Amino acid sequence: DWTPAHFISETVSNLKQQIGDKKVIMALSGGVDSTVAAVLISKAVGKNLFGIFVDNGVLRKDEFAQVIETYKVLDLNVKGVDAREHFYTKLAGKTDPEEKRKIIGNTFIEVFDQEAHKLTDISFLGQGTIYPDVIESVSVHGPSQTIKSHHNVGGLPDTMKLDLVEPLRFLFKDEVRRVGVELGIPHDLLFRHPFPGPGLAIRILGEVTEEKVTLLQNADAIYINGLKQHGLYDKVWQAGTILLPVKSVGVMGDERTYEFTVALRAVTSVDGMTADWAHLPYEFLAHISNEIINNVKGINRVVYDISSKPPATIEWE
Ligand code: XMP
Repeated sequence: DWTPAHFISETVSNLKQQIGDKKVIMALSGGVDSTVAAVLISKAVGKNLFGIFVDNGVLRKDEFAQVIETYKVLDLNVKGVDAREHFYTKLAGKTDPEEKRKIIGNTFIEVFDQEAHKLTDISFLGQGTIYPDVIESVSVHGPSQTIKSHHNVGGLPDTMKLDLVEPLRFLFKDEVRRVGVELGIPHDLLFRHPFPGPGLAIRILGEVTEEKVTLLQNADAIYINGLKQHGLYDKVWQAGTILLPVKSVGVMGDERTYEFTVALRAVTSVDGMTADWAHLPYEFLAHISNEIINNVKGINRVVYDISSKPPATIEWE
């Protein structure tokens, strides 16, 4: 019978066999899969696992610091790399969604490659690949794949010829979470909503700037914390805010304002392939709208996205 405890002991002993006293490098994203995979590898090889966690400038508010802290608690050997400026420079002036995705994917590989070359004698590349990723990469030629290219962290840089270590290759998401619970990984990390690799860059329609990222991070934090405080976070599959490239007129006190609009998105779904807009309570939406407009300077209007997938997508880009 499959149990998380059994899976862990068997996997760790296999990893010890496979890796021996060699070194493993791995990109971590703060997500469920890469974290669970890293903890398993770390159990097998300890400090011979070299994790790299990159701040690409489009993470959620305070996410970089919080995730680094969690890795410390889990005793993972992880280096945090602040590459925000590098990403902002590459993204400057770019407005096309697919181009933004490619830039983020390529810049990530550049940064990771640079870090990898600072280390010597690396033999393996660790990855948090799970079973659905394996299936998806086999069917990349299907028409739906050309709609959006998905760039997750962990692409193998061409220049590096490393053997792969993928301890979660045969697991589904719910099994990965059960293993994570057994490994003592914090609940918040294991049960957080999916977050796209290109992060807030595809939730800022049009050009990404540092100012817009800060604006959206602040609005997003109010929304996500609000969902948690009102017991709604676990009832939706995914939620986030989108910064629209429009300014509109408002009034604040005696003054006329001319500022940005954010859209709130929340969906229910099983796997992200189809999704319904979440029927969040009006009182909650009213509260969040007030909180955002009163606390985030630069935003004077909040709208709620009531589109389902299909024909809309979950993300706006
Ligand atoms: P859509 O917008 O296609 O999103 O309905 C479905 C799910 O995929 C996520 N998503 C991405 N994840 N890189 C990722 O790692 C991407 O480029 C990307 N685009 C969308 C989205 O957040 C949702 O969970």
